Amino acid sequence: MLISVKVAREEEIRRLSNKLLTIVANKDGQMYRENVAKFGIPDEYVRESFSLTSLLAALTAGGRFYIVSREDDIIGFGQIMPRSKKLVELDRIIIFPGNTKRGIGTKLLHHIAREQKTAGIRKIIVRTGTEETNARLFYEKNGFKKTKEVDVDAPWGRKISLVQYELEL
Ligand SMILES: CC(C)(COP(=O)(O)OP(=O)(O)OC[C@H]1O[C@@H](n2cnc3c(N)ncnc32)[C@H](O)[C@@H]1OP(=O)(O)O)[C@@H](O)C(=O)NCCC(=O)NCCS
Repeated sequence: MLISVKVAREEEIRRLSNKLLTIVANKDGQMYRENVAKFGIPDEYVRESFSLTSLLAALTAGGRFYIVSREDDIIGFGQIMPRSKKLVELDRIIIFPGNTKRGIGTKLLHHIAREQKTAGIRKIIVRTGTEETNARLFYEKNGFKKTKEVDVDAPWGRKISLVQYELEL
């Protein structure tokens, strides 16, 4: 399977936003059920966070979007945000339904880690829901170490428990 990873510019971010909005609009779909409905995240919040305006705002704030494509089709992405001189946060990593569990997320993660290390970054942190078992296993298999658990007030007015993981580069 021929896949490629590249850092997105505005045009690809527009395509990514369209793709994400289409995927989460499908309420019978895996992503809506497992990543939205399960956590009681309101539809408006999801639409807003995947909107072109929000993704472009992240880009302006120094974020980087790594897009995975198969031929011309976007099949996933990872978003990192700078947190300090030698630290970045993996804000999101999503491999789209139908493409998961084939090693693509791992490939993407390795690509990001390699590039960030070359850029002088020493640590990647990531936070995920305590109950997001698949994501937690994925990070643990890829060498991330659990460093803390935090309860936060989600922007949609619910308390959620998060686990923080760190990967030394
Ligand atoms: C988590 C995610 C990014 C992993 O990407 P991926 O391409 O599926 O992962 P890989 O194939 O490289 O690695 C697979 C490992 O991840 C874990 N995993 C990922 N998806 C899983 C699933 N549906 N069921 C069970 N384990 C899963 C397992 O540990 C698996 O290892 P195994 O195949 O030996 O059992 C992807 O499944 C995804 O996008 N999930 C939905 C969004 C999400 O939860 N993102 C993370 C929080 S932002």
